[in-house]
Amino acid sequence: MYRLSNPILAVLLLCATFALAVQNVKVQGADFVNNVTSDRFQIIGVAYQPGGSDGFNPGSGIDPLSNGTLCLRDAALMQQLGVNTIRIYNLDPDLNHDDCVSIFNGVGIYMLIDVNSPLPDQSLDPGNLASSYSLTYLNHTFAVVEAFKNYPNTLGFFSANEVMDTVGTGATSPPYIRAVTRDIKDYIAKNSPRQIPVGYSAADVSQILTDSWAYLSCDINGNSNDPSRSDFFGLNSYSWCGPTSPTANYEASGYNTLISTFGNTSIPVFFSEYGCNKVEPRVFDEVPVLYGNMTSVMSGGLVYEYYEESNDYGLVSFYSNGTSQLLVDYDNLQKQFNTLNVKALESMDSSATAIKSPSCSSSLISSSGFNNSFTLPAAPSGVSQLIDSGVKNANQGKLVTVTDTAVTLPVYSVSGSLINNLAIKLLPNDESNGPNGATTTSSGASPSTTKKGAAGKIQAGLCGSAAMAIVLAFLLL
Ligand SMILES: *[C@@H]1O[C@H](CO)[C@@H](O)[C@H](O)[C@H]1NC(C)=O
Ligand SMILES: *[C@@H]1O[C@H](CO)[C@@H](O)[C@H](O)[C@H]1NC(C)=O
Ligand SMILES: *[C@@H]1O[C@H](CO)[C@@H](O)[C@H](O)[C@H]1NC(C)=O
Ligand SMILES: *[C@@H]1O[C@H](CO)[C@@H](O)[C@H](O)[C@H]1NC(C)=O
Ligand SMILES: *[C@@H]1O[C@H](CO)[C@@H](O)[C@H](O)[C@H]1NC(C)=O
Ligand SMILES: *[C@@H]1O[C@H](CO)[C@@H](O)[C@H](O)[C@H]1NC(C)=O
Ligand SMILES: *[C@@H]1O[C@H](CO)[C@@H](O)[C@H](O)[C@H]1NC(C)=O
Repeated sequence: MYRLSNPILAVLLLCATFALAVQNVKVQGADFVNNVTSDRFQIIGVAYQPGGSDGFNPGSGIDPLSNGTLCLRDAALMQQLGVNTIRIYNLDPDLNHDDCVSIFNGVGIYMLIDVNSPLPDQSLDPGNLASSYSLTYLNHTFAVVEAFKNYPNTLGFFSANEVMDTVGTGATSPPYIRAVTRDIKDYIAKNSPRQIPVGYSAADVSQILTDSWAYLSCDINGNSNDPSRSDFFGLNSYSWCGPTSPTANYEASGYNTLISTFGNTSIPVFFSEYGCNKVEPRVFDEVPVLYGNMTSVMSGGLVYEYYEESNDYGLVSFYSNGTSQLLVDYDNLQKQFNTLNVKALESMDSSATAIKSPSCSSSLISSSGFNNSFTLPAAPSGVSQLIDSGVKNANQGKLVTVTDTAVTLPVYSVSGSLINNLAIKLLPNDESNGPNGATTTSSGASPSTTKKGAAGKIQAGLCGSAAMAIVLAFLLL
């Protein structure tokens, strides 16, 4: 029988200690904050769903975070773009995501994960709420939590996306959305090493928007630890269209209304999707506004979307022969991100963290058709046992050491020239990615790109050369 020798074990331990890890982000009042530095964290993000939802094919062994070669390329392009967060919609909890997630972690990019998918028994069905709120469904959401709970760059889970999308679904589904949120948060409290935020992603339907937010963000019976309360509220917003459209300003886009609606929010609010494409190419002139005076209320947003699909929202085109090409939207978005003052975005707004969540009451709900009952459905039979025992044989992801940094697939610039030497730059533990090569650090200083690249390599290199030395010594024995 092969025995793992002590020197090799020592190297494995050494390497494990040196796996780079971002600092956790948590919710504090109406802000996301870094759990170590208490700096504010604002989402500068993109939606990441290679192939779109049509491309989600669990039986195939492929999901957006299953191929490290593709993630390495995308992480390099996103690092240059300046994003610090990706949103991933459809994931197979049984696949191995370690390579991809470790790459995104290594470049300081966090993940917002949807626990649902378009497959049967993997989301709430607004037409069959009671039967779709099942043990099988919740088991799937818990399996997604298991798969991502150990990664330090898991920023949060969406318990539901656009389930309330009409006046009709606003009448029936709210108690179920709170029930699913409660079950997932109970599962996390019992089975996760840290409290990972769980929230909602809302459709932009003006008749129900304010009520959706008010319904999900209050405390039932004034219980400040109410697990059914959403930890954050995302809005999929496409109301600001490009410069030649009449909606390309603060008032006509309705951004001013959002700021007054959410002015007293007790939980973080952000755009869980944005980037209207009615005027193309997109120039993203809403970016300086979203990260300008709106930051007193909003915590940033995620541009829809990274991969080009037939709906034409992409930043980058991908071809089946493995090559890809940046689109002009990528360059335009990068230019806008590069104007942001990341240091200012990180500074805390202490009043936002002080707002107490209101107690739930039918008086919080303003339209007559919207559900105003805070009596939630009981969890289906078997769920509390599942929460107590944990999902059996669950696939639990963990960080692995990232050694390859060079992108091997060809990427072409907007003008069609091959981009040479495309690579990721591994960041030290205390940094996350940001625009313009800027990163956030606990020291408050913003180091140059060169420094952070070097630091990442030193850590990877230490592990590598220690391994080499020990293996050599071992061979010589
Ligand atoms: C990952 O994607 C690359 C490029 O398309 C492909 O060549 C490779 O076979 C894929 N790897 C796996 C494990 O599927
Ligand atoms: C729960 O999910 C796990 C992981 O996907 C799966 O192996 C198991 O069969 C599921 N159990 C039930 C009861 O659905
Ligand atoms: C914050 O950090 C503390 C100390 O390391 C840790 O115990 C706690 O679990 C973290 N909380 C969150 C929400 O990440
Ligand atoms: C915020 O900025 C917008 C657009 O730049 C402007 O119209 C609005 O008056 C500003 N609001 C405040 C409160 O400063
Ligand atoms: C926020 O709450 C304060 C105090 O209750 C109130 O005076 C103010 O009008 C509220 N603002 C908004 C935008 O709702
Ligand atoms: C890959 O496919 C794209 C789109 O069809 C094409 O423009 C490009 O030249 C191809 N690249 C190679 C290396 O074949
Ligand atoms: C709220 O939703 C629940 C569950 O769908 C339903 O039973 C109840 O009738 C609704 N209540 C109101 C006041 O709309």
